[in-house]
Amino acid sequence: MKIYLDNAATTFPKPPAVYNSMMNYMMNIGSNPGRGVSTTSLAGNRVILNCRYALMDFFHFDKVENVVFTPNITTSLNILIKSTCQKGWHVITSSMDHNATLRPLNSLCEKGVIELDIIPCSKEGLINVDDFVNTLKPNTKLVVLSHASNIIGSIQPLESIGSICKEKGIYFVIDTAPTAGILPIDFYKLNCNALAFTGHKSLLGPQGTGGFLIDDNLNERCTAFIEGGTGSLSSSIVQPDFLPDKFESGTLNAPGIAGLLEGINFINDQGLDSIRESEEYLCKNFIEGLLNISSVNVYGLTDSSKRTATISVNSTKIDNSELGFILDSEYGITTRTGLHCAPLAHKSIGTYPSGTLRFGIGPFNDIKDINYTLNALNTIIRKV
Ligand SMILES: Cc1ncc(COP(=O)(O)O)c(C=O)c1O
Repeated sequence: MKIYLDNAATTFPKPPAVYNSMMNYMMNIGSNPGRGVSTTSLAGNRVILNCRYALMDFFHFDKVENVVFTPNITTSLNILIKSTCQKGWHVITSSMDHNATLRPLNSLCEKGVIELDIIPCSKEGLINVDDFVNTLKPNTKLVVLSHASNIIGSIQPLESIGSICKEKGIYFVIDTAPTAGILPIDFYKLNCNALAFTGHKSLLGPQGTGGFLIDDNLNERCTAFIEGGTGSLSSSIVQPDFLPDKFESGTLNAPGIAGLLEGINFINDQGLDSIRESEEYLCKNFIEGLLNISSVNVYGLTDSSKRTATISVNSTKIDNSELGFILDSEYGITTRTGLHCAPLAHKSIGTYPSGTLRFGIGPFNDIKDINYTLNALNTIIRKV
């Protein structure tokens, strides 16, 4: 028996069309997109453009050239943060955010470029909007927040925070790694200036894909981060200033983007609502079962409609890394243990420094997986 419950790290398996399209790209297209006028290079261009359109529609955005590809969301957030921030800016993020946001911001702070406030979240992993308002300063210019916790799934009140940012002229950047492909995301309803995404989690694409959507307002503020060949304006040694080329130097991961396109097509075919409904149902059943196991602490909100299906626990009887190891080696259940690259989140929920055992439910899990895992946990914990 093999049960994969590490979908918060990366989804597995992928829809068959994802594997097939990647093989097809490598075996039958091959060429670099945007480099020359060969039939195969143009076929590559079409794949990339179709994926840009798919992402634009998926996030209810309206400018296809403002959809930029990067290798992952970590690169996207580094670009958005480091190419935007200016000396003297005050920047806000939260304790629930991932190191992909915290580390670039912290390094700018340590270099004396920015002042940084990291808003402490509640035990449920939520930002209090009043705390956010009280943290604002006259020089607050940028807010970077994750849409949900990658540890306990709590969904942040981003629409309210976004509208405050908009009213005050503060740039707002969202990390959608834990929610894209799970929750409906509307670029304009969230009132953001940029939305970063990663392809290999719930968008169901392969590793090595990601990117961001950026509005013209923030784009005007951003400088190019990585410069080099774009296949455009090649007679000049000056980096193009138009999108997406400004941010897309170097060869794109075309087979990966072909796979990502099929991941998004799969979500659209299934319906985002039905994926969310299934994950919410499994999450509800899993949490109910966990709450019945004595010695297990479940962190975060218990109402599955207010969170994603990423669930963290600890047992008072056995260390989380040992429990994760036994689940894997004796029951074939893949989970993740530790700090999940979000150290400050564990300070908020009270699990620092040992972290948690995390279960990430995905679109290919079913109720049998949940019941099998609950039985395994019950058995292991009864024995220790
Ligand atoms: C909230 C959040 N942000 C950023 C990342 C980084 O994603 P990637 O490794 O694809 O860049 C992750 C991955 O775990 C995440 O959960």
